[in-house]
Amino acid sequence: MKKVLSGMRPTGKLHLGHYFGVLKNWLELQEKHDCKFFIADWHALTNKYKETDELKENIRQMIIDWLSCGIDPEKATLFIQSGVKEHAELALLFSMITPKSWLELNPSYKDLKFNLYYQYLRDFLAGKQVKINQTPPPESFDEALEKATGKQKNKIFEEYLREAFHRAFYNKKGIDFKWLKEVLIKLGLQKKIVEEAVKNLEEGDVGKDIDTLGFLAYPVLQAADILIYKAEAVPVGEDQLPHIELTREIARRFNNLYDQIFPEPEAMLTEESKLPGIDGRKMSKSYNNAIYLSDDTETVNKKVMEMKTDPQRVRKTDPGNPEVCIVFEYHQLFTDRQTISDIDTKCRKAEIGCVECKKILAENINRFLDPIRERRKEIEKDLPKYEKVFQDGTEKARAIASDTMMEVRKAMKLWEF
Ligand code: TRP
Repeated sequence: MKKVLSGMRPTGKLHLGHYFGVLKNWLELQEKHDCKFFIADWHALTNKYKETDELKENIRQMIIDWLSCGIDPEKATLFIQSGVKEHAELALLFSMITPKSWLELNPSYKDLKFNLYYQYLRDFLAGKQVKINQTPPPESFDEALEKATGKQKNKIFEEYLREAFHRAFYNKKGIDFKWLKEVLIKLGLQKKIVEEAVKNLEEGDVGKDIDTLGFLAYPVLQAADILIYKAEAVPVGEDQLPHIELTREIARRFNNLYDQIFPEPEAMLTEESKLPGIDGRKMSKSYNNAIYLSDDTETVNKKVMEMKTDPQRVRKTDPGNPEVCIVFEYHQLFTDRQTISDIDTKCRKAEIGCVECKKILAENINRFLDPIRERRKEIEKDLPKYEKVFQDGTEKARAIASDTMMEVRKAMKLWEF
């Protein structure tokens, strides 16, 4: 039995990728360990401090999503970060002992910055009527670049755009805007638009949005979240590993400077969800390819019918290859072994068509979602009752956090309140 803690930023409703990537793991952990799961609403502010209109609603959605999936307040402590002010106090004290360079060198800081810049670039171009094709391109970026004529098309594959920006961004000298401009023009975008976009990136407020103390100190707050409960294990995805490493370093530094209070927590690496979006790319809200836990039956049916299948299989009479089919990948999670093996054989012999195969899948996804939908209905009928569950959890968490803070003040020889 370990002390386990994890958090999620409330960025909107959760999809199947979140379920198979995170929640399923939490459901198992809550059976075996002393778990705390919290909604990291302060962390959501680090880059979304302007968009607070949706914050409360997103927190509510998260409460509903977690509870309807079976995250159980009888088994785990569920709470909201901003309700435990002690996190902020500990983060402040940690900020006194954390060298700035630890934060600036943190790879996830760079990645977040990348995403923000990239999102801006993409949205800007889309706003200028540049057509951003989201289907995977037929050839590699390098091949495309080689063949590019520079002729204006104002069309670009999203993958090329991302790759170009990636290369310009992860570059030892800082962001290579000049190269980016040249490449985008060469790939067919209008010179004027590209120049304006890049100029905004270079001089505008995109960077400023995250050029804040809060954003830089994101991992310090995260360290406080974890250490204040003396958590021993933190289930997270790979992208979070640098944050956990930093948490360990902060714990070590504190323990050396003052007193041995904090254990060094281990990351419990959760395997990333293998479930792609309906177009085959990573499932994500921004790609518009997600199936949400809150989708109704009709929506699921529709999305499954839109799923990409084996591109070589044009007619129903063509034999298919399940190994390259997204629908088949989904079947692995939602369909029983016998049916999967049937579909496998029949697809290869063109004895089952994609529509029929999709119907089976849609039915199975719906069967999986039905109990979650049922619970969702119950919860929505009396939301205050379930918000209260988080309120109670927050109080439980606060009692522990407050004890740790007393130890911390004592160790640091601060005034003891
Ligand atoms: N940074 C995490 C994420 O974006 C969320 C988070 C905040 C977290 N505090 C945490 C995760 C503490 C684990 C432990 O996914």
